[in-house]
Amino acid sequence: MESATQKLKNSILYLAFLYAVLYLLHTFILHKLLIGNQPLRVKKNPDRPLRFRSDGTFKILQVADLHYGNGAVTRCRDVLESDFKYCSDLNSTQFLKTMLEAEKPDFIAFTGDNIFGSSATDAAESLLKAFGPAMESRIPWAAVLGNHDQESTMNREELMFFLSLMDYSVAQTNPPAEDFSNIDKGGRKKHIDGFGNYNVRVYGPPGSHLANSSILNLFFLDSGDRETVQGHRTYGWIKESQLHWLRGFGQAFHQGQKQNLDHSHDALIPTSPPALVFFHIPIPEIPQLFYQKYVGQFQEAVACSRVNSGVLQTLVALKDVKAVFMGHDHTNDFCGNLDGIWFCYGGGFGYHGYGKAGWPRRARVISLELGKGKKDWTGVQRIKTWKHLDDGKLSKIDEQVLWEWQSPR
Ligand SMILES: *[C@@H]1O[C@H](CO)[C@@H](O)[C@H](O)[C@H]1NC(C)=O
Ligand SMILES: *[C@@H]1O[C@H](CO)[C@@H](O)[C@H](O)[C@H]1NC(C)=O
Repeated sequence: MESATQKLKNSILYLAFLYAVLYLLHTFILHKLLIGNQPLRVKKNPDRPLRFRSDGTFKILQVADLHYGNGAVTRCRDVLESDFKYCSDLNSTQFLKTMLEAEKPDFIAFTGDNIFGSSATDAAESLLKAFGPAMESRIPWAAVLGNHDQESTMNREELMFFLSLMDYSVAQTNPPAEDFSNIDKGGRKKHIDGFGNYNVRVYGPPGSHLANSSILNLFFLDSGDRETVQGHRTYGWIKESQLHWLRGFGQAFHQGQKQNLDHSHDALIPTSPPALVFFHIPIPEIPQLFYQKYVGQFQEAVACSRVNSGVLQTLVALKDVKAVFMGHDHTNDFCGNLDGIWFCYGGGFGYHGYGKAGWPRRARVISLELGKGKKDWTGVQRIKTWKHLDDGKLSKIDEQVLWEWQSPR
């Protein structure tokens, strides 16, 4: 039989052991986590999944062509003579802060040429400054690359990896290995071209019957930088491997969503949620819009690739894509419709990117509203967009409805 003293001895030994373990952990492990006596910075993550607000809205700010350089010392381009002296990257920073305050978006989408590589001495420093207001705002954000981001000290893979690790970013370098849609018939993970191809799902409002359903899909694609095709220099394009991933994703999503809906009694929920797509370089069909009706301004030749890889056909076949948001051509800011899908430019945002003196820098807002049924939300009902000018009054222009849910007949 164990005596009371024996028990006490055991307890003391146990406590001593515990203390020793904690001490060792503290000295050896924590010590390793300290870099230059600074505690290791861990990425701050937004609450996941992303959700519509309780009032049934979700608002996205598109920032196209921020073109950040080194900050205060990087001069503005194409501003009025009188504005030139006191204008730098900090004006882009201020515009971003102003937009975040004014619109209070739920999500920020940066559509490439976030930094202007050739003006950024250190890519990491430039990225931290460029995305500073987004990180400080704690609003979840994502980014794709343009054709200029990699012209500094990081290649495209490093840039996307860095972006994915920044505070409140939901950007990914590429789809995760377990992504079911990216496995070929032999069960191998397929190579996917580029860096920054990923999907972000947005769920229904907290506490609603859509709280556990993905009701909006956001797709981000890498449209590349520059390529040489048969001796001609041209812009990059979205490759077949990326479109394959997108198609696979669409199919898998439809199947999964159908199963979920079999258990639902609310017939008003659309069978598949609408999708929005974000990439940098316009597709080769965009020039056709010049001869059609568009909302906004078409002021410069579309700098698209010579290669048409069938992006439009793929997006149309997916059926859920309602709108695409692009950048690249800073003085085009229009939305035009191709085969039922809206293609919208953000319009140049950053002051170090080329522009047009006297034509204010601008930003696009995308606003989504849920429909209200008898008892609860019915799914995305309406997608609207408008722009704001950095003209001192933050003028709101070109508001339009991009898509409205029609009950199936
Ligand atoms: C840039 O910012 C400075 C300082 O706030 C301001 O005085 C100037 O008017 C801005 N320039 C432009 C073109 O917005
Ligand atoms: C969503 O999931 C949570 C956690 O599993 C559960 O408590 C809640 O009832 C679910 N809501 C709906 C509407 O299914």
